[in-house]
Amino acid sequence: MTQSQALALLKTGSHVFLTGEPGSGKTYVTQEYVALLRAQGIEVAVTASTGIAATQIGGMTIHSWSGIGVKTKLDKQDLEHIAKSKNVKTHILRARVLVIDEISMLSAQTLTSVDAVCRKIKKSELPFGGLQVVFVGDFFQLPPVVRHENALSAQQMLLQETPAHFCYDSRVWKQMAPKVCYLTEQHRQDDREYLNILSAIRCNVFNSSHLKKLQTRKIEYKDAPDDVPKLFAHNSAVDHINSEVLGRLSGAARVFTMTSQGNDHAIAAMQKACLSPVELQVKVGAAVMFTKNNPKEGFVNGTLGTLEKFDTHTGYPSVKTRRGRLIDVEPMDWILEENGEIRAKITQLPLRLAWALTVHKSQGMSLDAAVVDLATVFEFGQGYVALSRIRRLAGLFLLGWNERAFQVHPEVLAQDRQFRMESESALKESMQKKGGELVYGASVSVAYRPWDEDDDTELRELYLDGATVSSLAKVFSRTSGSIRSRLKKNNLIEKK
Ligand SMILES: Nc1ncnc2c1ncn2[C@@H]1O[C@H](COP(=O)(O)OP(=O)(O)OP(=O)(O)O)[C@@H](O)[C@H]1O
Ligand SMILES: [Mg+2]
Repeated sequence: MTQSQALALLKTGSHVFLTGEPGSGKTYVTQEYVALLRAQGIEVAVTASTGIAATQIGGMTIHSWSGIGVKTKLDKQDLEHIAKSKNVKTHILRARVLVIDEISMLSAQTLTSVDAVCRKIKKSELPFGGLQVVFVGDFFQLPPVVRHENALSAQQMLLQETPAHFCYDSRVWKQMAPKVCYLTEQHRQDDREYLNILSAIRCNVFNSSHLKKLQTRKIEYKDAPDDVPKLFAHNSAVDHINSEVLGRLSGAARVFTMTSQGNDHAIAAMQKACLSPVELQVKVGAAVMFTKNNPKEGFVNGTLGTLEKFDTHTGYPSVKTRRGRLIDVEPMDWILEENGEIRAKITQLPLRLAWALTVHKSQGMSLDAAVVDLATVFEFGQGYVALSRIRRLAGLFLLGWNERAFQVHPEVLAQDRQFRMESESALKESMQKKGGELVYGASVSVAYRPWDEDDDTELRELYLDGATVSSLAKVFSRTSGSIRSRLKKNNLIEKK
C-alpha cells in the first residue's frame, strides 16, 4: 500500500495498524495524519512505546500519557488511582485519536492496561473508550522488554496477559480488528545492495553471500570514528563507551550525585529503573540525552543535545538540543506514590551521556552512519533494528556479530503473511468504496437522504483535507446545519 492510500484509510476514522519495513515511512505518514487532524482542531494524542521513539514523533511515552508509568500490570486500586489523576483525566478526555508508535515493543499486557485506563476515564466499554486508535510499527523489529517484576497473585491482577506477548495477541487488539496498512515504499535506504541484505533478514533467507557483503564493513573498535553514533546490545557496553569517550574530552569533569528519600527497597528499584545514573559525570562538549519529560522547557525523555557550559552560580549545566535550543538543566524528581502518599523519591539532573545508545533506544531513528556491535545481541530483531537505522552500506561500521544478529522472530514470520493479506483486503475494500463514492458524487438531490457509511467516509476525508462547512454543503447537496451536525456525530467537531 502506498503512503497516500494509507493516509486515505486513516482519514476514514477506522482503527488502523500502520506497518511496513523500516524506512517505509510509517512515522512520516502518521505525522501527516496528525497534522491534518490538528489543522481541524481535532485533539490527537501522539505517543510511542519508548522515550526516544516518542521524541521522533513529537509526543510522549504511552506510559506517561496513560498514567500507568513503569507499571505493566494494573490492579483495581491502581486503576482507581490513575483515573483520579487530574492531568491524565484531562488529556484522555480531550483526545479523539490515539497514536502509538513503535508498537512492537509494547506488551499485550501494557496495551490492555492502557485500554482499561481509557475505558474507565471515558466511561465507555468501547475499546480505548471510543478513541480512534492508530498502531504504528513493525513486529520484525524489537519485541516487548520483559521485566521480572515482583510476582503478584493472579487474583490480584485486574488483567492477565502472558508477559512479552506481542500486543496483536491481546484481546483488545482482536476486538478492534484494526485495518492493516502495509506500506510498500522505501524512503530511508537508497542503496539497493544494502536493501537486499535487509530484506533477506526480514524474509529469513539471510545467507553467507549477504554476510560476505556485511563483512566488507568490519572494523576494529580502535578504528571506529568518534563522531558517529554507536549502537550496542547491552546497557553495560553503552555505559563503558560513554565514560571512555568522556575521559578523552579535555576539560574538568563534574559529578552530580542522585539524592533520595523514603523506603530503601523502593529507592533501589527506582535507581535501577531510572535512565539517569546515580553518579552523573559530565564535561563541556559531552553528548547527552534528556531522561525525563518537560515539554514546557523544550525537552522530553530522549531529546539529544550537547553540554554547552556550566552556570557560574548554580553549577548546573546548559544543554544545546539538536534543534538548537539552549536549556538550563536543573535536578528533577522521580516519585513513587502509593495511595496518594510519597513512598520514595529520587532527585537527579534529567540527563545521561549519549555517544553510545542501546539498539532498543535507537528503534525509529534514521542514521547516516553508525558503529554497530552485534556480537552480543540477545533478541530476535535486534540486529535487524540496528542495521536498518543506517541509510546505506557505506555508513555501517560493524564491530562484530553472533548468530542471533540476523534472525527475526519466527512467530512474526507467520503473522506477517496474515498482515500482508489483511492489508490487501483493506486496500481492495477502500478502492471499491472509492468507486461507490464516485457514483454518489454524480447523484442529484440528496438533501433528505439518510447518511450512509460511504458518505461519512467521504465527509471525514474532505473535512480532514481542509474543506469548509459551506463547501461540504455544496459537495453533499445538504444544508450547512446538516453538515455541522454530521461532523458532530462523527466526532470531528465539538458537541456543545
Ligand atoms: N513521503 C516521504 N517523503 C520524504 N521523506 C520521507 C517520506 N516518507 C518517509 N520519509 C523519510 O524517510 C525516513 C524514514 O521514514 P520513517 O522514519 O517515517 O520510517 P518508518 O517506517 O517509521 O521506519 P522505522 O520502522 O525505522 O520506524 C525519514 O527520514 C523520513 O523523514
Ligand atoms: Mg518509525
